[in-house]
Amino acid sequence: MVSARLRPFGTTIFAEMTRLAIEHKAVNLSQGFPDFDGPAFVRDAAGAAIASGKNQYARPYGEVPLVEAIADWHERGTGLRVDPLAEVTVTSGCTEAIAACMLGLIDPGDEVVLLEPYYDCYRACVAMAGGVAKFVPLRTPTEAGGVFTLDRAELRASFGPRTKAVLLNTPHNPTGKVLTREELGWIGECAIEHDAIVISDEVYEKLVFEADHPHVSIATLPGMRERTIVCSSIGKTFSLTGWKVGWAIAPERLTAGVRAAHQFLTFATATPLQHGAAEALRRADEYVPGLVAELRESRDMLAEALASLGFGVTRPEGAYFIMVDHSAFGDGDDVAFCKRLIERAGVAAIPPSAFYNEKSLGRSLVRFAFCKKRATLEEAVRRLRAGLNGSAVR
Ligand SMILES: Cc1ncc(COP(=O)(O)O)c(C=O)c1O
Repeated sequence: MVSARLRPFGTTIFAEMTRLAIEHKAVNLSQGFPDFDGPAFVRDAAGAAIASGKNQYARPYGEVPLVEAIADWHERGTGLRVDPLAEVTVTSGCTEAIAACMLGLIDPGDEVVLLEPYYDCYRACVAMAGGVAKFVPLRTPTEAGGVFTLDRAELRASFGPRTKAVLLNTPHNPTGKVLTREELGWIGECAIEHDAIVISDEVYEKLVFEADHPHVSIATLPGMRERTIVCSSIGKTFSLTGWKVGWAIAPERLTAGVRAAHQFLTFATATPLQHGAAEALRRADEYVPGLVAELRESRDMLAEALASLGFGVTRPEGAYFIMVDHSAFGDGDDVAFCKRLIERAGVAAIPPSAFYNEKSLGRSLVRFAFCKKRATLEEAVRRLRAGLNGSAVR
């Protein structure tokens, strides 16, 4: 039994892919989590919190050391100072932050603009709130080496009198696109014109690879801070995706909506992990630059290998996914191609049509995650060479 709101979403293709991957003992480049551990000093801090009795319900909006660490982290990243007690809400992962934004701020019938492809929970969260999703495509590159692009006219056309919010993600999963200041400006101008809220999912905020293309938070653009909720978490930045410690940063009027939902969704997030997360944010410089350097090398290695095999490669500027075109290997769709990859090459990837409303846009694409040990990536490349070599038609 599934409610009418969630019935259209069925079970995702990921369950089927995972089953196949296990059956074929595939190297797993499908899911977006590292196969290495997060920093010891963060794990130790959580262990110490457990040992010292920090084991009862947390402050519902976040333990004070954590909200203070988040406010400082946000200031270091954006130059914006927020009130840690009034404008930061700790949630169980960025996912809960997004759900709380939707359930606490969207009324039935309100429209929410999503960039597609979108992270899969977005659409379901809009539906759970009774909202109506509107889609703007990130267009696939037309030439080799190109990037995914946002079209200003298409963006404008997706806003209307019922638009209540736009939910964006940068750096972007699954394309690896980092939205430019100009593109963020277009989104901001539409939001202001329609008096819409901006929900900005920035879970990959530190995972950017090009010095001349930094991550920009839309909250820093003129007139945007007062209408923006910045959502993030420690999961990706500190390779601790299982911790599910996230947050929403917003002015008090928007925080009111987030908290209205959060208090009844989870009420509070695991107390000792919040203390570990605070240590992570305070000592980020001991870990994050090294992670970014390793991910950049992994990206370059995988991008080069995939290009040499015949995939149409777009180099991601951020996050830890690479979305490539598989048309050179025949005209099957992305699901068929991913099944073939598992069965013939023993490598699991994600068929991205699941991230699109307009499924045809994802048909020729496939997403690989590169947040994996070098040995895992090398084994995946070896298997791809053996399983696909020679089958590309150029
Ligand atoms: C764009 C995006 N947002 C949110 C999440 C989930 O974040 P969390 O694990 O903190 O809930 C993910 C995880 O893959 C993601 O890719």
